[in-house]
Amino acid sequence: MDTLFLTANEEGIAKAAETIRNGGLCALPTETVYGLGANGFDATAVKNIFAAKGRPQDNPLILHIADFTMLEELVEELPPLAQKMADAFWPGPLTMILKRKPCVPDVVTAGLDTVAIRMPADPVMQAVIRQAGVPIAAPSANRSGKPSPTTAKHVLDDMDGRIDLILDGGACEIGLESTIVNLASTPPALLRPGGITLEQLRMISCDIIIDPALMGVATETPLAPGMKYRHYAPEGAVTVVDGEKEKVVAYIKNAIQKAETKTAIIAPDGYFLETDADLVLSLGDSATSAAQRLFAALRACDDAGVKRIYAVDCGTKGIGLALCNRLYKAAGFQIIDLEEDL
Ligand code: TXA
Ligand code: MG
Repeated sequence: MDTLFLTANEEGIAKAAETIRNGGLCALPTETVYGLGANGFDATAVKNIFAAKGRPQDNPLILHIADFTMLEELVEELPPLAQKMADAFWPGPLTMILKRKPCVPDVVTAGLDTVAIRMPADPVMQAVIRQAGVPIAAPSANRSGKPSPTTAKHVLDDMDGRIDLILDGGACEIGLESTIVNLASTPPALLRPGGITLEQLRMISCDIIIDPALMGVATETPLAPGMKYRHYAPEGAVTVVDGEKEKVVAYIKNAIQKAETKTAIIAPDGYFLETDADLVLSLGDSATSAAQRLFAALRACDDAGVKRIYAVDCGTKGIGLALCNRLYKAAGFQIIDLEEDL
């Protein structure tokens, strides 16, 4: 199929909404990452999402809504804590797992009795949902196993010829996927760190638990089905290096010198002024810029055919927790802690 590539102006938005209503697949910008959207009530259209991504059918999708009327159609009841979180963080990068109504197709929830719901803040995404008049089921718009796309060009690289339309709304503001909180369980659990930080969540509910699998501790059954799959993995092997700046720089320089293959460094500004690495990808000077740039950096490594990637650990404060989680997953939890054996 030919994939239309349109700017997210009035016409582009109208075309995307029409495509969704007619059962098609559209890549849409959101403030987190690009989503691959279909009508959430159309089981056939939703099935096509899995095929286009090469995504396992047992990994459920998020339904994106524009207002609370849509929410009422989808969930049995809104627990008081969910209402508080919605008031605090919606529209925005928070996904809540809630008990679903029977009208939600099984293919969306992978047969679970819960459904993941998010009210995105991106005005383009909001306009498409409103004009389509249905909740939009959308995973990240990457091929399964690739880093999530943060630009329309990333989507084109993965999905050209596989979907009906890509709506280009520019680079995503946050750059990492939404925070997922399970509010269908007690106590509530953080399933994926993201744009809404743990610190922000704990201002609303101090008893939120964190699945240890998030930071690499092996557990038998991960809480979010998607967590069991290899994710965000570039083709080159990633090693994350943690420790004092001078030691990290020395360690990575040494490793790069010894490597007999194409190498890259992913690090904040000012870490590597001179190096033998084939590619140096800057994460900027803040956790915010690092979040915006990480997935593009991983993709740039693939584009350049890099085989060994060294990344500097960025700490777990604020959005840093989500950043670390994605970086650790890209590294298959291959982390060198230079302070460990002191
Ligand atoms: O920022 C985001 O969340 C982006 C944009 C497009 O909204 N979407 C996104 O979707 O990252 P996806 O499919 O790549 O990740 C959704 C995650 C998966 O790990 C899935 O297993 C989990 O949400 N999930 C969905 N429904 C669930 C449910 N009922 N219970 C537990 N986990 C669920
Ligand atoms: Mg994804």
